[in-house]
Amino acid sequence: GAGWPGLIAAYADRVAVPPGARVVTLLEGGTPLLPAHTLSDRLGVQVYLKVEGANPTGSFKDRGMTVAVTHALARGARAVICASTGNTSASAAAYAARAGLTSAVLIPQGKIASGKLAQAVAYGARILQVEGNFDDCLELARKTAATTDEIELVNSVNPVRIEGQKTAAFEICDVLGRAPDVHFLPVGNAGNITAYWKGYREYHADGVIDALPRMFGFQAAGAAPLVLGHPVRDPDTIATAIRIGAPASWSGAIGARDESGGLIDMVTDDQILDAYRLLASTEGVFVEPASAASVAGLTATVADGRLPAGSLVVCTVTGNGLKDPDTAMSFMTEPVVLPVAAEAVTDALGLTG
Ligand code: F0G
Repeated sequence: GAGWPGLIAAYADRVAVPPGARVVTLLEGGTPLLPAHTLSDRLGVQVYLKVEGANPTGSFKDRGMTVAVTHALARGARAVICASTGNTSASAAAYAARAGLTSAVLIPQGKIASGKLAQAVAYGARILQVEGNFDDCLELARKTAATTDEIELVNSVNPVRIEGQKTAAFEICDVLGRAPDVHFLPVGNAGNITAYWKGYREYHADGVIDALPRMFGFQAAGAAPLVLGHPVRDPDTIATAIRIGAPASWSGAIGARDESGGLIDMVTDDQILDAYRLLASTEGVFVEPASAASVAGLTATVADGRLPAGSLVVCTVTGNGLKDPDTAMSFMTEPVVLPVAAEAVTDALGLTG
């Protein structure tokens, strides 16, 4: 066959684009739903990973961006703008480049992972580093977009972003032939949990799935406004992608939690880093720290009994580990340096030559 056609074509009946629009796509979506054998054995539940780092720019943001930039181009916008902790900006810059539009990205100065900044540079974004956090950047992006029709705001407050991102739920159901019992997600600005829940509800309403999953969202402990019940002024976490104090999709996240009988809780940076290392070293799945919050939440809810044994669960791992090389390298041990000699290799490995 011709291969995966991108999510707008794959779900043409469920993701609306303007009639006659040129679809701006990098063939995003169609990502692996990977059985996690080691995690499943250890935890006594059946775990799948939805590996969103396999998208064209290395995160789930591409799902929303193909739709948002398709709309922006169709209506004659000349530029797109977004606030970002790094992944949205990388994705917006890539899709804007593909569409021939200008992209402007507002990022918190010094607080985005280096791989994401490298992407924005490579794709040719106008990079604006703000002396503030993500929440400040989003306010600036909203205000700027409101001043002119020529600039499209492509944060997830743009509802077409959610339309694209909901397709991940469709893909999971299409593979499993059902919804999982529980779906685990990291939560930052809360667009993604809102989108998954919308996707599951649509499939349920149309009879594609018989039962809905429970949605389990996890924030970082230093950036957990939804858990605390109020905005956090100075959010902080090693998981910079979810360093957000005032989520734009607050009510969407609470709706997903309450309607699904789920929960939104928090995990510490240490729990996040433990899950981060476990995923790479036992499953071969290298994710960025924020992504590991879903798996940290899985481990925590198994340990405290909130997740029933034997459950079928999906953890979305939202972004590729290469996004944040500095975190990975912080775990590097003393390098082993050898002369060019075979016996030095066997010695170093403790083998008998
Ligand atoms: N995981 C990663 C890797 C992210 O980049 C984000 C959000 C999330 C999880 C949380 O998703 O915001 O929908 O709850 N990143 C945004 C950005 C904020 O600017 O790239 P959410």
